[in-house]
Amino acid sequence: MTYVKACALSELEENTPKRVELDGTPVSIVSTEGEVFAINDICSHANVSLSEGEVEDCMIECWLHGSSFDLRTGKPSGLPATRPVPVYPVKIEGGDVLVSLTQES
Ligand code: FES
Repeated sequence: MTYVKACALSELEENTPKRVELDGTPVSIVSTEGEVFAINDICSHANVSLSEGEVEDCMIECWLHGSSFDLRTGKPSGLPATRPVPVYPVKIEGGDVLVSLTQES
């Protein structure tokens, strides 16, 4: 599995998503509840940036219509979104946040 650097761990603020582009893919990096998650930044309902939404209870909320996505699985908690958003494996190494785009879950 290939990991690429998304950002430095020190750039993340708890519960404040950070949008990055990795190989042309927009990804939202989220530090919450002692873990770091990577989720595709585009809502599965429409072309809206999830990183502009709120994070709570390990979910990221789409600000446009209010569907929330589980940061661990990408699954929506309710309508209007019905499809999951891709999430990506993350590892922390030497103060860097590394993300693998090759394996979605
Ligand atoms: S665009 Fe995200 S829920 Fe509609």
